[in-house]
Amino acid sequence: MSASVLELDQIQSGVLRPRPTPYVATYILLRIDERTAGRELMRRLSAAVASAAHPVSPARDTWVSASVSFQGLKALGVPKSSLDSFPLQFQQGMAARAKVLGDRGESSPENWEKPLGSPDVHVVVTALSPDSEHLQSALERAQKAYRELTGVAAIWRQDCHILPDEKEPFGFKDGMSHPAIEGSGIPGSNSHERPFKAGEFVLGYPDEISEAPQIPQPEILGRNGSFVVFRKLHQRVAAFRQYLKANASDVHTEEFLAAKMMGRWRSGAPLALCPMHDDPELGVDSRRNNDFLFKADDAIGYKTPLGSHIRRLNPRDADVAGLVRIHRMIRRGTAYGPPLPPGVLEDDGADRGLMFAFVGAHIGRQFEFVQSEWMNDSAFFGGTSGVDPISGAGDGIGVFDVPRRPIRTRLQGLPRFVITRGGEYCFMPSLRALLWLAELKT
Ligand code: HEM
Repeated sequence: MSASVLELDQIQSGVLRPRPTPYVATYILLRIDERTAGRELMRRLSAAVASAAHPVSPARDTWVSASVSFQGLKALGVPKSSLDSFPLQFQQGMAARAKVLGDRGESSPENWEKPLGSPDVHVVVTALSPDSEHLQSALERAQKAYRELTGVAAIWRQDCHILPDEKEPFGFKDGMSHPAIEGSGIPGSNSHERPFKAGEFVLGYPDEISEAPQIPQPEILGRNGSFVVFRKLHQRVAAFRQYLKANASDVHTEEFLAAKMMGRWRSGAPLALCPMHDDPELGVDSRRNNDFLFKADDAIGYKTPLGSHIRRLNPRDADVAGLVRIHRMIRRGTAYGPPLPPGVLEDDGADRGLMFAFVGAHIGRQFEFVQSEWMNDSAFFGGTSGVDPISGAGDGIGVFDVPRRPIRTRLQGLPRFVITRGGEYCFMPSLRALLWLAELKT
């Protein structure tokens, strides 16, 4: 088989397909107490997990996916030579990478929600659907795989659901920017962005740097798999609103500053295309709302500030240190918790935020690089001290510059609006690899 023809029937649907809109989703964490039971779980999951083939099937928007942590691979008895072939970051797991990720203070692993970050997290099962009824049937399919299986225990669950107007808890429309992937048949959302080599997201194919990138061994285990990063991110919505209010003289300025911090108005309309005022029609138009570049007419960031969330995390064609294309990621964020009612400025104590999910072939040069260099540092665009004003590890003394004529506006004392509650680095095996894991004889 040619290296560039994607084996869609082997790749899990959750890797390539953008989540449906609207959506409901459930994450379930499993612990494997007995190796043989874990292998039976893999066999059963291989029947419950959907592949990326059949893009026009009516069931295409409801799917179950399964991924395994490094501790999970160990619990399944994967041989040492194979374990050693996985990237170091994955072997160490997310909690051990806290320093690189900026997970300190309240966000540090000792404060994470149990059992996140512990060696008990072995398997992550995700069910996703446009509605509760179909989610329930997908969940039942998944639960059949581990219920009544002595030696496997469900240890954590998180339910997620879409918020009104597809917004995340701070109130911005989410889920618009997606890369196009060669051979997937699933289009990207920016006609100015060349499709990416499949090996950037799926293991076993040429990527943007190499014709034959290294993958975990044996080949049957690594090929058609991807790495997945799950992070439960609590959002301090009241603090975000208070900060905007404290730095603006009226409601219009609050909205203007919020848009500058994100790089998009809350409607989703990008500042790159409508810098002076919101354009809600553009915000909901999926053919136009991500169809833009930065550099041609906005090198300084008068429209989209260089330090805004979307420009940092995908500088597109902007001049920054390094090669932007090798740090691109697939995101599958889903919201959890009740929205904070409009206008409320006091924290109501509810847990709300984003179950952030990264999908890619390289945890190090994609997720960790973006999180540490682009989100939590500003050197790459020549910026002053400051982190991403939306999701960065703010310490209360950072600044955010909004370039303006005749002089820029500088926001001071940026606190941290997003707290890490925990997460894990996982490997999402191909359907064939799930069976390989099921048939291990060690
Ligand atoms: C609670 C925390 C976060 C919130 C509220 C948030 C919110 C958003 C929103 C509203 C968008 C615009 C929607 C879109 O372009 O599709 C966006 C884009 C994006 N976010 Fe986040 N995000 C968060 C955390 C993260 C993290 C942790 C990362 C990666 C380390 C990340 C990476 C990105 C990327 C790559 C884009 C697309 C930028 C583009 O292509 O223009 N975000 N985010």
